[in-house]
Amino acid sequence: MKTRVTEILGVRYPIIQGGMQWVGVAELATAVSNAGGLGVLTALTQPTPEDLAREIARAREMTDRPLGVNLTILPAVKPPPYADYVEAIISSGVRIVETAGNSPRDFIGRFKAAGLRVIHKCTTVRHALSAEKAGVDIVSIDGLECAGHPGEDDVGGLVLIPAAARALKIPIVASGGIADGRGLAAVLALGAEGINMGTRFCVTKEAPIHEDVKRALVKATERDTTLIFRTLKNTARVYTNAIAAEVRSMEGRPGGCTFEEIRPLVVGSRGRAALRSGAIDDGIITAGQCIGLIDDIPSCEELVQRMVDECRVRLAVALAHAAA
Ligand SMILES: Cc1cc2nc3c(=O)[nH]c(=O)nc-3n(C[C@H](O)[C@H](O)[C@H](O)COP(=O)(O)O)c2cc1C
Repeated sequence: MKTRVTEILGVRYPIIQGGMQWVGVAELATAVSNAGGLGVLTALTQPTPEDLAREIARAREMTDRPLGVNLTILPAVKPPPYADYVEAIISSGVRIVETAGNSPRDFIGRFKAAGLRVIHKCTTVRHALSAEKAGVDIVSIDGLECAGHPGEDDVGGLVLIPAAARALKIPIVASGGIADGRGLAAVLALGAEGINMGTRFCVTKEAPIHEDVKRALVKATERDTTLIFRTLKNTARVYTNAIAAEVRSMEGRPGGCTFEEIRPLVVGSRGRAALRSGAIDDGIITAGQCIGLIDDIPSCEELVQRMVDECRVRLAVALAHAAA
């Protein structure tokens, strides 16, 4: 496949594995890169910038293909040492970075000066335009279907992707709700030049997630996710388990609740433990609506190849319909 995204990233297929807290480690990212896509390590999954440098070196032993690092910039009372993570990424020789969460403006100059390619992930056309203006190479745009943070505007991919493709000059990557070759074919037709997937890559052999969680996601339907933190204006789409239901009910109380009240339920360490142990109701599990499209646990190689083949078939079928 050839798009501006494959050219900029130097990959065979325009398929990116987005940054995923607790999941984006060397085993998964390198499996995606070796399958011809772009694997992405998640910087903040590593406790310190030094640990990140070690993880990048470990990944380098496992692939010589292009590899990226996600840096999620979140407002925090006590922020992680972002500048040190930036330096760890640059000095490790990684050539591609995915920024997300907040404007990459503060770090983009440093990344660009060091010759990195920057993909910025956002959820609105206005943020995409400002990222383009700030000099990023690619914008990845997440619709309402996505796992994690879809923003507060509630625009689904079917509108958001063509809206972004029409507004931007740089290439866009469609993210959220894609789990098969049909999705890849659809977004290419909508004007995207690549895809970014999170949930689908969680349900692969190489994802560092307990089999019971993977099996629960296979069994789940497209109705089995829910939006939490909506009342706190920090909406997140997650798998509907006991904890997510409890958070929803606390947020639904008259007057709502504060983050402090739900913090013990949603702390990252609990989510991480649930992913590792398979105790699916014990922590927040981030997942998108495309769990309804996931029926098996393939290797990343099998998944990518199957998606590419299916995409070509779907586009040929669509063309036959259109040209008839
Ligand atoms: C388990 C999990 C953890 C995630 N953590 C992050 C993160 O730390 N930073 C980030 O930018 N996106 C994160 N995401 C979002 C993905 O990178 C991607 O944008 C999203 O999953 C796309 O939607 P999809 O799941 O429908 O493919 C996460 C997604 C999942 C499933």
